[in-house]
Amino acid sequence: MTDATKTPIALESRLVDAARLFSPSAARNRDPIGDQLAGLLPPGARVLEIGSGTGEHAVAVCQRRPDIVWQPSDPDAASRASQDAWAAEAAPNMLPALDLDLTRPEAAEQLGRFDALVCLNVIHIAPWTVAEAIANASQALIADDGLIYLYGPYLEGEATAASNLEFDRSLKSRNPSWGVRARSDVEALFAASGWARPQRHEMPANNLSLVFDRRSPI
Ligand SMILES: C[S@@+](CC[C@H](N)C(=O)[O-])C[C@H]1O[C@@H](n2cnc3c(N)ncnc32)[C@H](O)[C@@H]1O
Repeated sequence: MTDATKTPIALESRLVDAARLFSPSAARNRDPIGDQLAGLLPPGARVLEIGSGTGEHAVAVCQRRPDIVWQPSDPDAASRASQDAWAAEAAPNMLPALDLDLTRPEAAEQLGRFDALVCLNVIHIAPWTVAEAIANASQALIADDGLIYLYGPYLEGEATAASNLEFDRSLKSRNPSWGVRARSDVEALFAASGWARPQRHEMPANNLSLVFDRRSPI
């Protein structure tokens, strides 16, 4: 049996300029994500991002919303260095990147409380235990009137885009513990941690953003 916790962290393809990394996929989706998050976050929001990658999404939101404070994080050291380099270059409202993997024991302790948790393109390319850890930690990490923003591909039964089915096969061939997640499974997981059924927004390239709050389900 493969021990998924021993497999290397999966990173999207990236270009390099000193410490700053550039992700071609982030170049395609950072503006729609940045626009959407800029419209959703409350004034002065404290935001925790899980798996911030190159840091380019954080920059996109922070530049649109200089009033917010963004805490980037990643278990990957090169990603954290990129996040810090982007912050120094372009986004003073980004805090120094945290080495954060919520599946580690006690990882969420002493992080404080945030108004929003953002996680983009992570839960399909990590074991399901990562999604479980995020949902579990969100109960204490996120304010009662806060929100969770998840972005990525999802399975939606017969409505699933062919490209996402192919992506799912490709992920599972690389690591059986990865895979495009069923939206219904993700919603059930977060419901068990007190989050209502999310707003579902269609995004470019057959991705979705799911926006959870704690209001009662409709
Ligand atoms: C496909 S990349 C996405 C990066 C960025 N969010 C984006 O959309 O461009 C996946 C990211 O998740 C991070 N990651 C992997 N396992 C993780 C874990 N257990 N907890 C948090 N982040 C993790 C990786 O280091 C990587 O930066």
